[in-house]
Amino acid sequence: MAKPSQKLNVAMIGAGFMGRAHSNAFLQAGHFFDIPYELKLKVVCARNREATEHFAAKWGWEEAQTDWQSVVARKDIDLVDICTPNHTHAAVAMAAAQAGKMVLCEKPLAMNYAEARRMAEAARNVRTLVWFNYRCVPAIALAKQLVEQGKVGQPYHYRATYLQSWGGDPKVADAWRFRPSEAGSGAMGDLLSHSLDLALLLNGPITELASTLKTFIPRREVDDAVLLLARFANGSIGTFEATRFATGCLNRNCFEIHGSKGAIRFNLEDMNRLEVFDCGDAAEIQGSHNVIVTGAEHPYARHFWPPGHTLGYEHTFITTLVDFLACLAKDEKFHPNFDDAAEVQKLLDAVDASAKDRSWTNVTSIA
Ligand SMILES: NC(=O)c1ccc[n+]([C@@H]2O[C@H](COP(=O)([O-])OP(=O)(O)OC[C@H]3O[C@@H](n4cnc5c(N)ncnc54)[C@H](O)[C@@H]3O)[C@@H](O)[C@H]2O)c1
Repeated sequence: MAKPSQKLNVAMIGAGFMGRAHSNAFLQAGHFFDIPYELKLKVVCARNREATEHFAAKWGWEEAQTDWQSVVARKDIDLVDICTPNHTHAAVAMAAAQAGKMVLCEKPLAMNYAEARRMAEAARNVRTLVWFNYRCVPAIALAKQLVEQGKVGQPYHYRATYLQSWGGDPKVADAWRFRPSEAGSGAMGDLLSHSLDLALLLNGPITELASTLKTFIPRREVDDAVLLLARFANGSIGTFEATRFATGCLNRNCFEIHGSKGAIRFNLEDMNRLEVFDCGDAAEIQGSHNVIVTGAEHPYARHFWPPGHTLGYEHTFITTLVDFLACLAKDEKFHPNFDDAAEVQKLLDAVDASAKDRSWTNVTSIA
């Protein structure tokens, strides 16, 4: 196990959208939190040499490389962070784990459940993290605390929508996200995976589901939208909708839980706020409380700015990384890890099976 104050040499594979988000987290974590390690941004690796050198200079990586196999095999690397397209995750992660590195990987972890299980097994003896970063939004971490404190009571309904609108944009028509061989799926792996991870965190296992997929663009081979009905092990029922065709919505990742004692509601487009309804309030003041989750008593927030000085998207990667490093220092298991992300992948396989069969799928039938 790495000891506090030890240097951790980081290699990051991929230097696109997530490469920027992760670089920022590696750089900023120690500015806001007392992290137990010194992170060295050793090498960034992506396909185009010139672009990668430019990226390395801009974000403070010591080296730029283009061959991930040689990077993950290097003796001077402690931690490999993967932010490449989905079809590459398994090969990079398994090689890195085999070389004894800690492995951080973007979501969806794999192309399917079988691949996710192989990855989790290959990484059994190393530390893993999957970037389901929304778990570490302060308002969502507060939602988790409220659920655990019983403020919602017996849950009845879980309702999640993840709405984006760029699916018809011709400028992105040839992106890897639309190629089944590289993305695996469309809105399902991209957006629904986040919603399912949060549902598992906040409301527990899903036992059975029924889904439908829709592709709006002719000849496109991945889903543009997915809908599902779900039964949870705790007796509640849920609905999920994830789409890249929700005109007017940019990154509207929402959930609501309604229970016997109260309700909570979250919308990522207003990510500093959690709506909380408490059935125990006196009748004359009953209504949703708008909690601005930036106070010293809230998760993570006191490490950043004074109350009311809001946080953004990039902070969710910082807080995820900080949690991982804290677990590493304490020799505790971090969540979400490869096993947790494999459970999400199992649900995605169940969604796919249900949509194909046009029937309910029992999640335990997925192997
Ligand atoms: N956590 C989140 O909210 C979130 C958000 C966006 C994307 N993602 C995930 O992050 C991953 C990357 O997405 P992105 O938006 O950053 O993609 P992107 O297209 O912006 O960047 C991909 C990067 O991977 C590099 N790459 C591709 N193949 C490679 C190879 N064989 N070797 C080395 N580098 C290679 C490319 O050069 C590029 O730098 C995907 O798995 C995606 O699902 C997660």
